[in-house]
Amino acid sequence: MVSELDKATVRMKDPEQVKNIISALRKGGAGKLQVISDFDMTLTRFGFNGRRCPTSHNIIDNSRVISEEGRKKLKDLLHYYYPIEIDPYRTMEDKLPLMVEWWTKAHNLLSQQKILKSDIAQMVKESDVMLRDGFNIFFDQLHQSRVPLFIFSAGVGDVLEEIIRQAGVFHPNVNVVSNYMDFNDSGILKGFREPLIHTYNKNNTVLKNTEYFQQLCTRTNILLLGDSMGDLSMADGVTSLENILRVGFLNDRVEEQRGKYLEAYDIVLEKDETLDVVNGILRFILPQTELVQPKSP
Ligand code: C5P
Ligand code: MG
Repeated sequence: MVSELDKATVRMKDPEQVKNIISALRKGGAGKLQVISDFDMTLTRFGFNGRRCPTSHNIIDNSRVISEEGRKKLKDLLHYYYPIEIDPYRTMEDKLPLMVEWWTKAHNLLSQQKILKSDIAQMVKESDVMLRDGFNIFFDQLHQSRVPLFIFSAGVGDVLEEIIRQAGVFHPNVNVVSNYMDFNDSGILKGFREPLIHTYNKNNTVLKNTEYFQQLCTRTNILLLGDSMGDLSMADGVTSLENILRVGFLNDRVEEQRGKYLEAYDIVLEKDETLDVVNGILRFILPQTELVQPKSP
């Protein structure tokens, strides 16, 4: 059915159930489908050549416009809070206030750095960020089939939009809900807009007042992509949900987190830096449009 599911990176608690969901998604077709995806470390690579790739926040943290002192403080926050974010032995309730603390401190530091709106494109260009291999097939396939792609990110919206714009895949079927920067009249960063989105509130509470909320409810078959346990609630706003396939990228502390991920995600992709499996599933679900061949003279 989907040969990519035989890849060595794929793990499933119940392969039969996965098969049934994929069949149901195919039956429903493009008209009923929407893709709800996390951004950082889900659509972007976790590592490349043995080095970590940056999140949308890290792109700003590491950029030349941040003072040395600011960069050090932001790095200290990352080293303190990231291990808490992914700690498999702490509950989400326990982590939640600490995540609010991390995002708040980081956003306050960034807001003191006189970042210009016009700096963002260059920051992204100079960064080591990479979308996962196969990203162009993923974005283009959804666009061609008119399937909405909803990116729900606790990262920085202005930065992530710039990443997909520079990659040439910010098609009109893409909607983003994320943390957006607030600039003053001179184009200098003065803060971040509400509501604050962090790893563990990616759910209805932040979606209720967004424009996208209505549209979200009309497509009842869902392909959900995430890399964190917090990404599992991204589809909670869809009231009349029919079928959902959850695909989780397990990037870090693989052995310790495997059990939890297998319970929560239908398909777990371990240290897989590609979108191959997702693209294989979409190829099976969506009717394939003929590639337009250039006319010979
Ligand atoms: O797009 P996504 O929801 O994955 O973005 C959130 C990610 O950004 C978190 O998983 C977190 O590790 C990372 N982060 C960061 N720096 C911050 C806050 C969050 O790198 N200041
Ligand atoms: Mg993520």
